[in-house]
Amino acid sequence: MGTRVISSTAAKLAAAAGLAAVAAYATVALAGPNDNELAVDGQKYMTEVPGAKDGPLEKVYSGWRFRNEATQAMQLDDFDNPGFTNVETGEQLWSTVDGEAGKSCESCHGDAAESMKGVRAQMPKWNEAAGKPLTLEHTINNCRTQNMKAAPWKWESNEMLSMTAFIGLQSRGMPVNVKTDGPMKAWHDKGKEIYYARVGQLDMSCSGCHEENYGKMIRADHLSQGQINGFPTYRSKWQKLGSIHRRFKGCMKNIRATPFKVGGDEFTALELYVASRGQGLSIETPAVRN
Ligand code: HEC
Ligand code: HEC
Repeated sequence: MGTRVISSTAAKLAAAAGLAAVAAYATVALAGPNDNELAVDGQKYMTEVPGAKDGPLEKVYSGWRFRNEATQAMQLDDFDNPGFTNVETGEQLWSTVDGEAGKSCESCHGDAAESMKGVRAQMPKWNEAAGKPLTLEHTINNCRTQNMKAAPWKWESNEMLSMTAFIGLQSRGMPVNVKTDGPMKAWHDKGKEIYYARVGQLDMSCSGCHEENYGKMIRADHLSQGQINGFPTYRSKWQKLGSIHRRFKGCMKNIRATPFKVGGDEFTALELYVASRGQGLSIETPAVRN
């Protein structure tokens, strides 16, 4: 394919999806979030909340509302939700002794249903010792290396995904509630800068898709606001759970930009900022997406 000038957002969206520019205008049609209600075991989840007064979004929607009914259905029943295999693994790891200190997570934290309740909803969170905000993955690895004297888990390993899924589940239904003031402010602002920066060969920003064009279709993919209240998320495309940073990386690759380092400061700042855009949405971990 030769060089072509991509001028309109619609054409860029199509290019990101690997479509010919001409077909794009017909393909990119408006279709808002659907009206389906997310309830699991009788518990209702907030998939739509008013945006912050000074924020960029009038309404904040969970990505669940943009998925088709078959994908949505997989999240309505924990027995159909493939993410629960990892939740079970995470529960086993919680009480497994590992490392030179001879401890398990449970040795110090006891019942996760109590000690980990609300933790996912507040991540990333300021950590005084580190002098910066830490994601859930960072926090778990700190406990492994410092408190258990065990080897850290790789970010995208089955162990880490299982543990973040298990811990995340303890906050399911609770509203996203990250702090963005005090020492977090600079990180929030840095994440915001990254969110709006146009990068890559397609010269696009996160906002170009998830703020200006959510609701539109890119081929079969219904663009959401790119919220992170359901992570780690099971994706049929991945055939497994994936982390927030994996998703960020994939989106950056789609616009042919060089992704930031998974677990690095840029993605941590971006995670904090994206979380703040979804304040009030229910945690859905482990969510199901296509
Ligand atoms: C030797 C004791 C010890 C062990 C073992 C341990 N932790 Fe921790 N953990 C702590 C302490 C102390 C803190 C900081 C104080 C707090 O928030 O509870 C902490 C904090 C945390 C937090 C942040 C909680 C919050 O409210 O922000 C998470 C998440 C966590 N640990 C997960 C784990 C996991 C998962 C494991 C096992 C892989 C584990 N920890 C093993 C002692 C331990
Ligand atoms: C070319 C358009 C485009 C750009 C630019 C883009 N994304 Fe995405 N993103 C998508 C599509 C398509 C999906 C899958 C459908 C959906 O959930 O919106 C997606 C999904 C996501 C999701 C998963 C949402 C969920 O509910 O599971 C997150 C999070 C996300 N993007 C974040 C970002 C961030 C952060 C950036 C900037 C670094 C970005 N995206 C840039 C197109 C884009």
